[in-house]
Amino acid sequence: IPVEPFDLVLFGATGDLARRKILPGLFHRYEVGQVPQDARIIGSARSEMTPDEFKADVRAAIEEFTPETSDRAEVLGRFLGCLDYVSVDAMSDAGWSALKGQLRPDVVRAYYLSVAPSLFAGIAGQLEKHGMAMPDARIVVEKPFGRNLETARELNASLRKFFREHQIYRIDHYLGKETVQNLMALRFANSLFEPLWNATHIDHVQITVAESLGIEGREAYYDHSGAMRDMVQNHLVQLLCLTAMEPPSKFTPNAVRDEKVKVIEALDPVAPSDIARGQYRADEGEDGYLDHVGDPQSRTESFIAMKVRIANWRWAGVPFYLRTGKRLRARVSEIMVQFRDPPHTIFPNVEPVQGNKLIIRLQPDEGITLRTTIKDPGPGGFRLAEVPLDMSFAEALGADSRPQDAYERLVMDVIRGDQTLFMRGDEVEAAWAWADPIIEGWERTRDKPFPYDQGSSGPEEALMLMHRDGRRWRQIG
Ligand code: BG6
Repeated sequence: IPVEPFDLVLFGATGDLARRKILPGLFHRYEVGQVPQDARIIGSARSEMTPDEFKADVRAAIEEFTPETSDRAEVLGRFLGCLDYVSVDAMSDAGWSALKGQLRPDVVRAYYLSVAPSLFAGIAGQLEKHGMAMPDARIVVEKPFGRNLETARELNASLRKFFREHQIYRIDHYLGKETVQNLMALRFANSLFEPLWNATHIDHVQITVAESLGIEGREAYYDHSGAMRDMVQNHLVQLLCLTAMEPPSKFTPNAVRDEKVKVIEALDPVAPSDIARGQYRADEGEDGYLDHVGDPQSRTESFIAMKVRIANWRWAGVPFYLRTGKRLRARVSEIMVQFRDPPHTIFPNVEPVQGNKLIIRLQPDEGITLRTTIKDPGPGGFRLAEVPLDMSFAEALGADSRPQDAYERLVMDVIRGDQTLFMRGDEVEAAWAWADPIIEGWERTRDKPFPYDQGSSGPEEALMLMHRDGRRWRQIG
């Protein structure tokens, strides 16, 4: 079903994110007929460029970042017809009247700021000054949304000067991932799990976002940020919220976001002994983190593992272990819910029966696995074995259904005016209020992260964090 006709102004239209994700995402939605034929996507950036040059650049990006299909060339030709380009400068009045002249009245209007956060205030101000910040326009911003509570507040204030909260769409692309939304379906569209979803039945939860790539091409940003700011404060906290939140009374943006904020506000401060930070070291022939950022003294972490507690009735005493890092042995994102062991074993001569594990795989091979214990078939008496009850979304839903990329979903939600999968201002600030003291602690002690081998599961100290509690991480990959 096509969304309403829209004008989308994409600031930073020649940047990496626009070329890799946003424009290919729009193209895919156009391909399936969701973006209407008369939609307009107006690229905007500081560089002087003709609309034809911009179209050529978008053509190259789509050819590089979308799979070739028999009719791609023909659809792409039509898609490029929706594109235009206007050069503007956030810091001066240049170009803004021309941009305004391009916009149509009476269609949905969205401004997508795929630019550095330092430009948010300038662009928002220019939109206001040139009469483009109308009360029904939407403004979309990308992370990093601040680097601490103070800067996040400043960003919020600079956007709220001209736009109301219901117009502001803060992207955390993890919320657009299919399995992340499936987590809500699993919890709240099934009656099986929710009665067990608490401290009485759950021993602990592990959330892993492991990456095999390093920080190629983003060294300056990353070294200034590190895994805590880049991944934990946003993506991992969001996964934690969706896993831990109370059932919202309805599936509306504020009902869902109210419940997420309550989880963040219930997070206990994290003791330094519950955190292991790591930095990948040089290997034979392979540069390490310090070589990549060109600073032998850098104390930025490319890996972090931590034990987090949610101080509320449902989760009292249930640790949530979070871990994320670069240059690890595989690219794996998953949430593992470890249920408690059965209270009593009736079977003689068998190992104590292990609790069930529910594994929610975000990537790769999105799906859900429930590890269950069965009788081991075959001779040799009554033995037990753990086997997976496995569901891969690709298999269950038909192999040829290409999974939607997070950006496809999120950009269409902006046009539809649905903020459920976007972060509200108070939510982002609450996450920084929790993260800030942790980061400030490292800055005070000037502790160095522990080195770890590239292609490993992170530093030894991360394993110890679990062993100490008599638990084990799930293997990465
Ligand atoms: C981004 C981070 O937000 O998420 C990157 O800035 C990270 O450092 C990326 O690589 C991971 O996203 P995905 O979708 O590839 O898991």
